[in-house]
Amino acid sequence: MDIKKLLSQMSLTEKLGELSQYNMGVLSTTETGDLTGPANDLKLTKEELAVVGSVLGYSSAEGTKKMQDEHIKNHPHGIPLLFMQDIIHGYRTNYPIPLGMGATFDPNLMEECARMSAKEAAVNGLHVTFNPMVDLARDARWGRCMETTGEDPYLNSLMSAAQVRGYQSDMNKEYSIAACVKHYAAYGAAEAGRDYNTVDVSERSLRDYYLPAYKAAVDAGVEMVMSSFNLVNGVPSTGNKWLLDDVLRKEWGFDKILISDYNAVYEMYDHGYAKDAKDCAEKAINAGMDIEMMTTCYLKEIPALIEEGKVSMETVDKAVLRVLDLKNRLGLFENPYYYADKEKADKIVFCDEHRALARLAGEKSCVLLKNDNNVLPLNEHSKTVALIGPFIEEPMIGGWPGAGSRNEVVTPLTGVKNLLKDAKILTAKGCNGTLKEQPDYKMIKQAVKCAKKAESVVLVLGEHDLMAGEGKSKTDINITPAQVELCKAVCKANKNTAVFIYTGRPLVLSEINDIAPAIAIIWQPGTENGNVLANMAFGKANFSGKLPMTFPRAVGQVPIYYNFYTTGRPNHEHDLPIAYRSAYQDERNSPLYPFGYGLSYAKFEISDPVLSSNPLKRGETLTASVVVKNVSDVDGEETVQLYIKDCYASLARPIKELKGFKKVNLKAGEETTICFEISEKQLEFFTANNVFEAENGDFKVFISNNSNVKTFATFKLI
Ligand code: GLC
Repeated sequence: MDIKKLLSQMSLTEKLGELSQYNMGVLSTTETGDLTGPANDLKLTKEELAVVGSVLGYSSAEGTKKMQDEHIKNHPHGIPLLFMQDIIHGYRTNYPIPLGMGATFDPNLMEECARMSAKEAAVNGLHVTFNPMVDLARDARWGRCMETTGEDPYLNSLMSAAQVRGYQSDMNKEYSIAACVKHYAAYGAAEAGRDYNTVDVSERSLRDYYLPAYKAAVDAGVEMVMSSFNLVNGVPSTGNKWLLDDVLRKEWGFDKILISDYNAVYEMYDHGYAKDAKDCAEKAINAGMDIEMMTTCYLKEIPALIEEGKVSMETVDKAVLRVLDLKNRLGLFENPYYYADKEKADKIVFCDEHRALARLAGEKSCVLLKNDNNVLPLNEHSKTVALIGPFIEEPMIGGWPGAGSRNEVVTPLTGVKNLLKDAKILTAKGCNGTLKEQPDYKMIKQAVKCAKKAESVVLVLGEHDLMAGEGKSKTDINITPAQVELCKAVCKANKNTAVFIYTGRPLVLSEINDIAPAIAIIWQPGTENGNVLANMAFGKANFSGKLPMTFPRAVGQVPIYYNFYTTGRPNHEHDLPIAYRSAYQDERNSPLYPFGYGLSYAKFEISDPVLSSNPLKRGETLTASVVVKNVSDVDGEETVQLYIKDCYASLARPIKELKGFKKVNLKAGEETTICFEISEKQLEFFTANNVFEAENGDFKVFISNNSNVKTFATFKLI
């Protein structure tokens, strides 16, 4: 299709329609789709409805075809719709929530899962997924931690690019769908972890921590970028010309579609940044925002703005061409159905192979925090097992399940029954799993009775999957008093108790950490929930996950993260309340469990790093190597992590930064050498010269299996 010629024939209403996206609540009286924000009464005219460019939150192999036919028939130039939806951890086969995928430290697995998800979405007529979500998260009070891959810019960047590759496959492979990286930018830095709250961070924090993962998506060829709800240093992202035009378009060279988040164009009025809808439209479109989601500022206000010379037709045309260009490259003008195909969908979607991949990802995401007396794995040949906890029959799937259905989730109880076909499984909820829940001693007594009769106990605690996600911030991230009391009573009743924590964020586990002999984080593993729980609890798979976010001792430590600055009065070495040091009176500085931490049934020893040379000359590389030995009698997988510290620089630098990691599988007793190449590229940061560059000086190299590592080697960059 000659889209420039088509553009020249379009009316202004048609052009503004291309720049407008609505959900099925607005577009259809018969079909429903996802509701992902407040319902709006938009008062669109019939003419405006006929020229809307894209649909939010709807996909269906047959439904999209029907809708496409209707739309093309009514559109003056027959321009097809784009269908977009939030497919963030699987389409109908849901793998773990992104925070769990972050814990796999496995970008290849991430890419494979995104690819699977794209196939299921494409045969259901979807063209664009609003993913990857790559907001860096350091504050566990924020409900959307679950949608991120954690607190580290390097890990987030790898996972961001992996998802773009998985969804898009360079947009020329069967079942490719366009990816949309979000929420640009720094949505995870919302003050106090309260969703949509103010973000006020320095440009260098943006450059060093918050922006890299968006840029990784752009460098991987992402087709779309979504602006975030929040202010960035006083200006809403959605109208932030520095962010959208100077950085994203001019500096990074992103020349494709920018879409607002839900209502975010008009919310500039609520921010107090625009005086009315007209001002919102002017600020958004002139900042480079192409598609307005769920509000009508463009359709209703831009004609007058053009009349008044405040918005140029050239600006509108550029935006419309970006939208037409994606439709054209998807081939929608020739085949508006894209890959929508009911027969194929019936074969591909939710197939055994996809569920097996989701289960594998679930197993790889689990993080073993402690395992005293080798309580785990529990004996799979037990005659009587107790499954206790508020969520044992809950079909938790994880937030933003796309087309995933709770009815198809393997619950914890079903999973344990699937595995332990001959065992007697005793069950008790022990509490209800609600917010700030106080103990119910009748329920606890019932649970204790089960625990006493069983050879082993799987105790399921944490938070319900509906307690994490958009608008789900919490001031209290403690395991609730009800769950603490339940844990105390059950562990007392049966020393063979393993605790599995379902959660979409780091929780404060301090109280149960002193009670339970074995604790593992299972996050929200998706459709295969119960099968993952059973396989991890009864030793069908070994643990290999690592924490993608720091687990605090107390909510008062939050935001807490591994790559902190030492301050002029450092206390991390002492980690005690020492006067005149950066410390608390009532808690240690250190987290309960650090970023990168996770145990295995195997035991690995990692030697101190050895460097191939010192100094490191610019333009050259050096090799840092360690010997990794599996000193146990169990095979296992370790994630060996490389951290580097810039000892002094034109700006203070963090105590260490993740610059590489490698996964290694070692049989019992086996050892191997792991090498990391280090070049000046990895030493670059946004310096006092306001450019990314490496500065000469001393550096420390740490290599370990978590971020709480003290031994290092040193080199000088010259
Ligand atoms: C929501 C979310 C965003 C999502 C969009 C469309 O409010 O913030 O992540 O992609 O609306 O559903």
